[in-house]
Amino acid sequence: MPETLLIKNGRVIDPSQSVDEVAPVLIRDGRIAAIGRGALAAADQAVDATGLIVTPGLIDMHVHLREPGQEECETIESGTAAAAAGGFTAVACMPNTNPPLDSDAAIEFVLRQAARAGSARVHPIGALTSGRQGKELAEIGMMARAGAVAFSDDGAGIADAGVCLRAMRYLSMFDKLFIQHCEDPTLAGSGCMNAGPTATRLGLPGIPAIAEVVMVQRDITLMQAAGVRYHVAHVSTAGAVELVRAAKAKGLRVTCEVCPHHLLMTDEICAGYDSVYKVNPPLRSRADVDACIEGVRDGTIDCLVTDHAPHGKEDKEREFQYAPFGMIGLETALPLYIEALVAPGVIDWPRLVRMLSTRPAELLGVTGGTLREGAPADVTLIDPERIWTIDAEQFRSKSRNTPWNKRTVRGKAVGTLVDGVWKYRDAAFPAG
Ligand code: DOR
Repeated sequence: MPETLLIKNGRVIDPSQSVDEVAPVLIRDGRIAAIGRGALAAADQAVDATGLIVTPGLIDMHVHLREPGQEECETIESGTAAAAAGGFTAVACMPNTNPPLDSDAAIEFVLRQAARAGSARVHPIGALTSGRQGKELAEIGMMARAGAVAFSDDGAGIADAGVCLRAMRYLSMFDKLFIQHCEDPTLAGSGCMNAGPTATRLGLPGIPAIAEVVMVQRDITLMQAAGVRYHVAHVSTAGAVELVRAAKAKGLRVTCEVCPHHLLMTDEICAGYDSVYKVNPPLRSRADVDACIEGVRDGTIDCLVTDHAPHGKEDKEREFQYAPFGMIGLETALPLYIEALVAPGVIDWPRLVRMLSTRPAELLGVTGGTLREGAPADVTLIDPERIWTIDAEQFRSKSRNTPWNKRTVRGKAVGTLVDGVWKYRDAAFPAG
């Protein structure tokens, strides 16, 4: 690692300090040494970032790394390489592995593998209940001590209100974020896509929007009794966005996140029975998509995530009803968010960076989200104008289940630094 690295002429956007200006950034010994005039010192290495945006490293607080248990789909090594290529310097990984991340040993295993693989920081999310079964509380305290940054049963929201309240109460003692996959199983049943006219036409069982809404509503009641910080994972319905908006207006500690696919596609795209579009929560109606976009615009939605969910080709190639839910996203999210939110003027660049970096760091209580002097030099360089065509064959991820293959997009991460070390550098990024 060079002792000093100077990033010159880039547009520096750091929402944590309300910075948005063309300025030099000096990195020394893996930390941010200065931004602006104080940064203009002789450096061992300099890069010219003219035309690029320089941001605190992007943080994806909802990914699936599949290790342990499904290493043929992804490993911590391949998933973090995909993260770095997408501009992410850190990811928070969900506990729906096999075995699940429901013990301190499992959390320690993930952290050890991450330290070894090393392309991006990995923040494990521990399971709330043992085996993610929704019955007995998991060893939350021990996992928190081992390094779990938040807790969730992921793919399965806790259906039992009593267990859910106990988990919330216990978690509130550690001030960790409670993340819920909001879907009432009795309403979702064996549904495999959004309940609506398209599902009816296709003869497929539907997951109604109210399956999400009912659990968010119940949880907002429970979280007030427990005093926990409560976060709705991958929000997808107008009803849930409205509930979070109302909860925030009341001053409750309720937050939420959204995925690119819930902003850019409706359930109608499932009409060809292509399981690449099968995801949970499912792609919803136009009204739901519009409500999610409005939720981003007015600040109801806090964070942008991917729900990166790698699956093998053979699994995804089964009939729609039997294929697993999920699509990958780490290497495509940035341009898709630009397309969905920045290009149409829903939010500006500083808001985008806040939602992709500063806010997730705040919610998880982890390092990053800032270019403040002294902070670890986790930095992403973005070319906002680069036009390129997504090619799944080029992905660092081990899986290929993306609905965006061959799409031409604008905007790309061209350089990713973690602790001041290049973890990804685009071939076309001008050498310093
Ligand atoms: O589509 C999804 N896939 N949603 C989830 O909640 C889980 C994820 C997975 O792990 O495959």
